Amino acid sequence: MAKSRTVFVCQQCGAQQAREMGRCPNCGSWGSLVEHIERKESTQSAARRTAVLTGGGAPQPLNAIPSGGVSRLPVRFQEFARVLGGGLVPGSLVLIGGEPGIGKSSLLLQSAAHFAEHVGEALYISAEESAQQIKLRADRMGLNPERLWISSETNLETAIGHIDAQRPGLVIVDSIQTVYLEELTSAAGSVGQVREGALRLLRIAKDLGIPIIIVGHVTKEGAIAGPRMLEHIVDVVLYLEGERFHQYRILRGVKNRFGSTDEVGIFEMTSDGLQEITNPSQVFLAERSANTPGSAVAVTLEGTRPILVEIQGLTSNTANPQPRRTVNGFDQNRLQMILAVLGKRVGVPLFNQDVYVNIVGGMKIGEPAADLAVATAIASSFRNQRVESDMVLVGEIGLSGELRGVTQLERRLGEAAKLGFRRAVCPPTQTPIRVDGMQITHARSLFEAIDAALGPAPRRKTRDDED
Ligand code: TYD
Ligand code: MG
Repeated sequence: MAKSRTVFVCQQCGAQQAREMGRCPNCGSWGSLVEHIERKESTQSAARRTAVLTGGGAPQPLNAIPSGGVSRLPVRFQEFARVLGGGLVPGSLVLIGGEPGIGKSSLLLQSAAHFAEHVGEALYISAEESAQQIKLRADRMGLNPERLWISSETNLETAIGHIDAQRPGLVIVDSIQTVYLEELTSAAGSVGQVREGALRLLRIAKDLGIPIIIVGHVTKEGAIAGPRMLEHIVDVVLYLEGERFHQYRILRGVKNRFGSTDEVGIFEMTSDGLQEITNPSQVFLAERSANTPGSAVAVTLEGTRPILVEIQGLTSNTANPQPRRTVNGFDQNRLQMILAVLGKRVGVPLFNQDVYVNIVGGMKIGEPAADLAVATAIASSFRNQRVESDMVLVGEIGLSGELRGVTQLERRLGEAAKLGFRRAVCPPTQTPIRVDGMQITHARSLFEAIDAALGPAPRRKTRDDED
């Protein structure tokens, strides 16, 4: 039996203290001591554990190692499986993070129920809600499978005892911030508890070959349980995100030892739980008001999948010396850069304008290929000229006003053509591209692109508009 004691370790310098202190006596940093469990595991048993995890360390020729060895368990929703890289890997520890109320518990209860129905026993450890509350939720979602077990245990040691005794095929721990280890003196949810709890779950997952999914609430700053240390411990990190009062939820991979992290899964909240959306572009464009100025359609690439999204821009006169720049779903600094280029290179002066940009549907766009659509939506609102409803805009904007190439342009435009778009404005390409049914305009600069999208600038009416 391994002996253990707890120590407080400074996260800055690594010095160990026997008791909690506000300031590290070694390096002098404040609030950096975190409680750790120090295990006296014999070197032999530690070595044996490593051997189990890695399958032995003896060198072997790369070409003698069988490929594609990872088997995967099916999960509810293709969209979820895609983000996981094809399904759950046995023995993996998966973290699903997100703000409270975003739908993590719902997604996992649906997944556990699906697993119980189609694969094997699933154990849902809910330290946050009572078994009765889970039952109510399941009833509401019409779930009642036989092999789904619910435990509202908060003591992690006891919960792990249940896992060990029952050996289910899938375990959910909801959430890592509400379970605790008795050995530690710090409170549930503290950095020490979360870290040790995750390490303990990692060990049981590997030892028994059971996939374990843990829920982690995200703090206001966007980190799971303070520092990002949880992300280093687990195999897969997914975030469920979306606007609280929008119906769409996006599941995004941040780290994945078994697949790509570019993929996103898109869901809709309904009264009976999450539903997957397999044709996101159609959904994101469904409410488009194509006939008003200030709207442009971008084609972003999320992993392997092009997704069309509507981008709305609005400008309005202001006397405020520091006009507003409000943006939803797009990078604020990127927007500032686009506004500067619009002013300097295109002749769209925005110094006396409040500017609002909104990515419709709660989507967050991280790639610069959406720059052109953002710029065009703003220019469209400012000039009161609309973009034709069958046009998409793709391209990154450079500081000298040039339009820069984007990856996989042909695939993006192909997807747009499938959805009925007939015109595209995009950067020049090295080799000519052809997309059936699509008239493609290559623009070298933002000026040319906006000219192609909106037509020539209207004559200014008042002196006030002159720059
Ligand atoms: P919940 O899954 O409890 O969020 P989290 O575990 O991330 O805190 O969901 C929050 C609330 O939203 C809950 O009251 C149920 C409701 N909800 C729906 O009505 N439909 C849905 O599709 C989802 C995901 C949630
Ligand atoms: Mg929850």
